[in-house]
Amino acid sequence: MKIADLNDFTRVFQTFLDQGPEQKQIIEEGRDIVKELVSAPGWLNETLEQLILDNDFLDGQWHSVDPNEITLFRSSDRSFSVRAFIWEPRRFYPIHDHGSWGLVGVYFNQARERKFERIDDGSIEGQGEVRLTGEGILGKGGTTYVLPINDGIHQVEAVDDLAAVTIHVYGKPVRTGYIQLYNVHNHTVYRAYPPNVLQRILAIRTLGSVNEPWAVQVLQEARNKTKKDFVKMECDISLSRRY
Ligand SMILES: [Fe+2]
Repeated sequence: MKIADLNDFTRVFQTFLDQGPEQKQIIEEGRDIVKELVSAPGWLNETLEQLILDNDFLDGQWHSVDPNEITLFRSSDRSFSVRAFIWEPRRFYPIHDHGSWGLVGVYFNQARERKFERIDDGSIEGQGEVRLTGEGILGKGGTTYVLPINDGIHQVEAVDDLAAVTIHVYGKPVRTGYIQLYNVHNHTVYRAYPPNVLQRILAIRTLGSVNEPWAVQVLQEARNKTKKDFVKMECDISLSRRY
């Protein structure tokens, strides 16, 4: 079946995933399906038009950890999602990892991708060292991919003076809640959260720097109450910082 728009893509991709492909097969064959999607013209126009002209559409947008991301589709069985990323020219975007595999195709203009590998063992909280392993420019219809956590650390940016749009298909996350941002200059790694939980995480981190009994109590209560692994982890890190 020829893929002409997002509806065609999501049907074809759902059928593909329903067959239970291994990750290797998803990357190899899924990339071709994404290539067809990003090579098809026009299907993103309506979304961009609505973002600009329709207040309700704008208000209804999902806010993820990346402010330049537009969620286009989430499968009902949560097996995959489709997002558009807008890369502005001359803007710095951080080196980051992902919670799942991801297939990426260029829809508008060109995108530069740099791939990195992590070279420290992650044993020291907040420290993370990465090394550049490759760099390339992708034009319209060009594709790349990422794997979960340390196997897909990369950075994307626009080329020349034109905003670029890339389409990303992500699988079911093996790690949920946050992504990690790397700073190559001071060898640090930072867990970045979406806006709906960020304030809670910041408050938890604040209590890790407040040497008062109520702070310990609140962190312990939060740790016991939450069902989310990343909240538990943030509480544990703040509790371990007690002095
Ligand atoms: Fe990415």
